[in-house]
Amino acid sequence: MIDIDQLEQETLQQISQAHDETALETARLAALGKKGAISALLATLGKMSPEQRKTEGARINALREKATLALAAKRDELEEKSLAARLTCEAVDVTLPAAPNGLDTGRIHPISQVLEELTAIFADMGFSVAEGPDIETDDYNFTKLNFPEGHPAREMQDTFFLAAGGEEKKLLRTHTSPVQGRTMLTEKPPIRVICPGRVYRCDFDQTHTPMFHQIEGLVIDETTHLGHLKWVLEEFLKTFFEVKGVKLRFRPSFFPFTEPSMEVDVQCKRQGGEIRFGEGEDWMEILGCGMVHPNVLRNCGHDPELYQGFAFGVGIDRLAMLKYGMSDLRAFFEADSRWLDHYGFRPLDIPSLLGGLSA
Ligand code: PHE
Repeated sequence: MIDIDQLEQETLQQISQAHDETALETARLAALGKKGAISALLATLGKMSPEQRKTEGARINALREKATLALAAKRDELEEKSLAARLTCEAVDVTLPAAPNGLDTGRIHPISQVLEELTAIFADMGFSVAEGPDIETDDYNFTKLNFPEGHPAREMQDTFFLAAGGEEKKLLRTHTSPVQGRTMLTEKPPIRVICPGRVYRCDFDQTHTPMFHQIEGLVIDETTHLGHLKWVLEEFLKTFFEVKGVKLRFRPSFFPFTEPSMEVDVQCKRQGGEIRFGEGEDWMEILGCGMVHPNVLRNCGHDPELYQGFAFGVGIDRLAMLKYGMSDLRAFFEADSRWLDHYGFRPLDIPSLLGGLSA
């Protein structure tokens, strides 16, 4: 016959000595589990005589009740202890400096920076931003821009033609000038837009990559003339290079979509691998421009007897190299985080004419 008092003492002792959840579970199984001592006692009830069941049954049930309560109390105690332990070891010291996040470590790529700077400069002069697709039709890239069929200039730009698919010949645009046509066909003069974007030419060396960036300027109005073009370019270049003034030299050139066409050189000083603008005796070629050709106006739905205007195109990557002193264009596209750490810009230093372009 099992000694109930002794079993009670042993069970309660095992429970109270359990120092963690595993030990407590062992104690529970030993007492109340399927093969536990108290469960075994309970199983004997069936074989007892009614009188015996009255006395013994009450004792056994009381034992089960005590063990159950003791187990629950112990479980609460252990849970409280482990919570207290977690709270002390996981405590947060709010006086510690915040962990570095994207604002500290992330950098704005110089091309994005220059693009923001250009947008700020031209927005201030009343220009808005227009965009066009990278995959362009031969029509917009060449034909509407007055490149005659079979004209050598079509080959001059090292075009990536796409394999013929639909009825229209497609290519990767070789310049941002097709956005001129797209804008003229959808907007009424006065038109004042800049069109930044990626352009593609089959060329690769220190100063050429097969994909690079240009920004196009287009102004169409009734009386817009070369003097306006000159003023806009001067304002743009002196604000961009953050100098008091720039001297420009306009050289006659040829583009099928402008007449007259000019290449613009900016006065500079080269000294020990450094270039300064707004001073010096040297000249550096910086952009192409001209008055929009009457054929282009006509091709894009405007009467050249009523409207006239100018256009210009500049390489964004080249502007970035000149302003921020990088010597190899290829590094722009290598995604080397050390390069970006060095040449990149902080995300919250947003360029503005008031706050400073590259402050
Ligand atoms: N599209 C020309 C180029 O890529 C630049 C240009 C634009 C020239 C607009 C004149 C007017 O070289």
